[in-house]
Amino acid sequence: LNLSPRELRAFRRVKFLGCGSAYYVGQIGAQMIEDLARIPADAEPASEFRYRNPIIEPDTLYVVVSQSGETADTAFAVLEIKRKGGTVIGAVNVVGSTIAREVDGGIYLHAGPEIAVASTKALTNMAMAFGMLALHLGRLHDLSYADGERISNALKAIPEQIQAILDSEPAIAAIAQRVAKAENAFFIGRVRQYPVAREGAQKLKEISYVHAEAYPTSELKHGPLALIDPAMLTVAVVPDDELASRNIAAVEQVRARGGEVVAITHEAVEFGTIAIERIVVPKTEPELDPILLIIPTQLLAYHAALVLGHDVDKPRNLAKSVTVE
Ligand code: AGP
Repeated sequence: LNLSPRELRAFRRVKFLGCGSAYYVGQIGAQMIEDLARIPADAEPASEFRYRNPIIEPDTLYVVVSQSGETADTAFAVLEIKRKGGTVIGAVNVVGSTIAREVDGGIYLHAGPEIAVASTKALTNMAMAFGMLALHLGRLHDLSYADGERISNALKAIPEQIQAILDSEPAIAAIAQRVAKAENAFFIGRVRQYPVAREGAQKLKEISYVHAEAYPTSELKHGPLALIDPAMLTVAVVPDDELASRNIAAVEQVRARGGEVVAITHEAVEFGTIAIERIVVPKTEPELDPILLIIPTQLLAYHAALVLGHDVDKPRNLAKSVTVE
């Protein structure tokens, strides 16, 4: 990071900046930092950043997120921060890329070359890197040794747990048959899982061209519930956490209006007699759950695209790296 423990401790806020999926995963990172380091953190689209004449604070750590390291909107955000004297680090996959060269320090993701337009493995590695960054910042603040060890052990177990999800791919592919038939879909998730829902909707739009929108689950009853009917598919992210009963109640409301539901969930979550399709992922520590819950959303989009006969690597109208404004 090119920052000493003393310099890192002095930051009072963390702001993530990225575009598209890199912005959504930045939201995951911000929540991890708030959870583990108890430092206020948020994320915003890098594409909007310089146009709102942002206030660059010396005690904010800016973290730019980019697979390619060449996204123009993100590179301009870096310039804006540097022009105004801010400290900016990067989470970048491509070694030696423009953004990697411009930042003050950072984390190389080492996800390997990502060829397909839709970001998948780079995105997972971004989330892992943010888990490690949050752990690091946490241990510089009030995260106890025991809690640090709990998170560190959980991070080490993630690759094996991802493999378990990949092993369940045939079951996810079967559910994707239903997703492929949908014309519209909602992705819902709460708090840590809201960015998971946003990323899930993004992936489905990008490669299967099924219209999908994400909402915080708590927002359903404030408007979008009006659209629920048998033609509207809902993908609900329902982890085994303190909000499970509220999430299950929301799923029940969708079912009561005839909407079909695919739940991405943990083994321990019981839906009783509510008729839904379940995709079960392994449980990790609550702060890290999004890393695993996001993977079935990628597989759903991938298999729905295959069913519909689309080119999953090169979706229409999109470029792998957006090097123009
Ligand atoms: C992801 O599936 C998209 N193709 C897109 O949102 C992408 O994440 C965004 O354009 C940012 O790209 P970058 O990570 O290379 O900066």
